[in-house]
Amino acid sequence: MTILALETSCDDTSAAVVRDGAILSNIVSSQIGIHGEYGGVVPELATREHLRNLRTVADKALSDVGLQNLDAVAATQGPGLPNALMVGLKAAQGFAFAARKPFIGVHHIEAHLYSPWVGAERVEPNVSLIVSGGHTLLVHVRGALDHTVLGSTLDDAAGECFDKTGKMLGLRYPAGPEIDRLAERGNPRAYDFPRPLLTDASDDFSFAGLKTSVRYFLQKHPELSASDSAICDLCASVQAAIVEVLVAKTIRAVKRLGVRTVTASGGVTSNRALRRELLDACQREGLSLRLADRAVCTDNAGMIGILAGMKLRAHQPETSLDANIAPTWPLA
Ligand code: KG4
Ligand code: ZN
Repeated sequence: MTILALETSCDDTSAAVVRDGAILSNIVSSQIGIHGEYGGVVPELATREHLRNLRTVADKALSDVGLQNLDAVAATQGPGLPNALMVGLKAAQGFAFAARKPFIGVHHIEAHLYSPWVGAERVEPNVSLIVSGGHTLLVHVRGALDHTVLGSTLDDAAGECFDKTGKMLGLRYPAGPEIDRLAERGNPRAYDFPRPLLTDASDDFSFAGLKTSVRYFLQKHPELSASDSAICDLCASVQAAIVEVLVAKTIRAVKRLGVRTVTASGGVTSNRALRRELLDACQREGLSLRLADRAVCTDNAGMIGILAGMKLRAHQPETSLDANIAPTWPLA
C-alpha cells in the first residue's frame, strides 16, 4: 500500500511517500529562519510559506512514485494552526480527488505517538512520552490505535518552556536546540529551579511556573546575561529541571501500570539530556526504551503516512473529501 502524506500543522512544510509501513521519501522544508526574529511562529507567515513551498516539497517526495501508483492520500487534519492546517488538508483532498483514492485525515499527536517505531516492530503495551512545542503528554498505548491519555500539561508545553526561557536568555526561536547545545558546557546544578508537579499524584505536567521563576531570577541577577559561562549554567539548570520532571513522571507511570516498554517522541525528544536521562532511568528499572529517531522527532509527513497506513490496515473508515480542519482536536 503506497500513501502520499502531507503535514503543514505548524512551521514545517512536509510531504512523504510511505509504502507498507516504510518511509520511501520524507521531505521537510523548515521555516525556522523565517520565524526566528519574531520569537515564535507567526501564523500568517507560516501559511504563506506552506502555500509557497508545498508544491515543490510534494514534487520532490513524489519524484520516484507517480500519482497513479498511490493507494491513498493522507494529511494532518489537526491539531495545529488553522490556516496552516488548511493548506495541507485541502491539497491532500485535491490529490485524493484527482487520483480517485481514499483520503485519510490524521491526528498530529497520534502520529508522533507511533513515530518511535518507524523501521521497527512495535511493542505494546507501552507508556509514551510525547514532548513537542505545543504538547506534553503521557499516553498508555495498549495496542495499535488503542491508547489512553494519562496526563498532559496544564499550561505550557515542555518545548514552549525551552523556547520561552531561551528567549529570556537572548536565544533565537526555537531555543530548544540552542539550550541543548549550550547546556553541554554548563553545570546543571548551578541554579536550583523548581520541578513543577514532580511529586503530584497525577500524571499531569506544568511548566509555566518554571518559566516565571527563571524570569524573576534573571530580573534579580541581570549581570548573569552578560556572562557566557553563566548562560551555559542557566541553560543546563533549566534543562535539568524540565528533564527531571519528564523522566520521573514517565517512570512512575510505567511502574504503576506494570508496563515494561517506554517510548518518547516529538521535537523535545531530540534533546540529548532527555535521551540520556531516559536511557539511564530505564536501564536502572530494567525497562526497554524506544526513542524516536532524531529525523522523525520534529514534525514530518513520514509519521503522518505511517499512521494513515495503520488506520487503513485496521479498516478504519476513510475521511470525507469535504472534511474540515480540526485545530483543537484532543487526543482521545
Ligand atoms: O514536534 P515539533 O517539531 O513541533 C511541534 O509539534 O510542536 O517540536 C518543536 C519543539 C520546539 O519547542 C523546539 O524548541 C523543541 O521542539 N526542540 C528541542 C530540541 N529540538 C527541538 N528542545 C530541546 N532540545 C532540543 N534538542
Ligand atoms: Zn509535532
